[in-house]
Amino acid sequence: MSYRLMNGKEVAAQVTAGLEQRLAELRGKGTNPCLAVVIMGDDPASHVYVRMKGKACERLGIDSLTRALPADASEEELLAVLDGLNSDPGVHGVLCQLPLPPHVDERKVIERIDPLKDVDAFHPLNVGRMLIGDPLFLPATPAGIQQLLLRSGVAIEGKEVVVLGRSNIVGKPIAAMLMQKGAGADATVTVAHSRTPALAQVTRRADVLIAAIGQPLFVTADMVKEGAAVVDVGTNRVEDPGSEKGYRLVGDVDFENVKQRASAISPSPGGVGPMTIAMLMQNTVKAAELAAASKGIS
Ligand code: GUN
Repeated sequence: MSYRLMNGKEVAAQVTAGLEQRLAELRGKGTNPCLAVVIMGDDPASHVYVRMKGKACERLGIDSLTRALPADASEEELLAVLDGLNSDPGVHGVLCQLPLPPHVDERKVIERIDPLKDVDAFHPLNVGRMLIGDPLFLPATPAGIQQLLLRSGVAIEGKEVVVLGRSNIVGKPIAAMLMQKGAGADATVTVAHSRTPALAQVTRRADVLIAAIGQPLFVTADMVKEGAAVVDVGTNRVEDPGSEKGYRLVGDVDFENVKQRASAISPSPGGVGPMTIAMLMQNTVKAAELAAASKGIS
């Protein structure tokens, strides 16, 4: 069976091209969006992601700033940085890169970000608004998955979607989004995870399989129905002594094996990753539009 590649780099470029008009309008009103990224500690992967976010801003002419705190900074220091960014009218979007060091309460940090600047959409207010179908911001990775499917011509309405993974960042929100009423959703959604018995039986029901379980090459061909669309959300570092860095990145899907059965499949890297960044840029533009609108009426 021949498969269609869901190319995240290309689709992400379409999404960001679609932001140019909105950026021009904002600039015409004297606002250029500004994204603030806070990072604590020295997790190498997190630093890579933060740099990628800064570069994406640069490409679009969006202002960005990074506040880096050492791993041994206190929770109070981190919260004070967030308070400063919340009250700075020149900053429109604020996010704190996860994971945080163990002595910091992640929930407290997420709840400290002004919901109107919460471009990750991790604040409970934004999670709740998404769940009831009235979102302010959509979380970037789930929104990126949805757009990647839609813009690659994969129908979601009325389909069986199986989400593999139940994280707050991907599994739970993508399930909630695809079960909503309306275009680009209306799916019958099953959430399966590491504790699901007979997992392959469940995943084989999927017309659309979304793998977000964080295990390298976890999804094999026997877990996929012939003709399914497969989205790989995973980015896992695996040891590779032959490579320059000593590791390489692989997804949650055994791509070479699964592509034979799939009608459409996203690679990793090069699939959902670039889409996440594009949706973050879209949320930053939205945050600046919200700020500009509230300035207009106050
Ligand atoms: N860590 C892994 N994914 C994400 C994300 O989407 N946002 C933030 N802030 N941290 C993450």
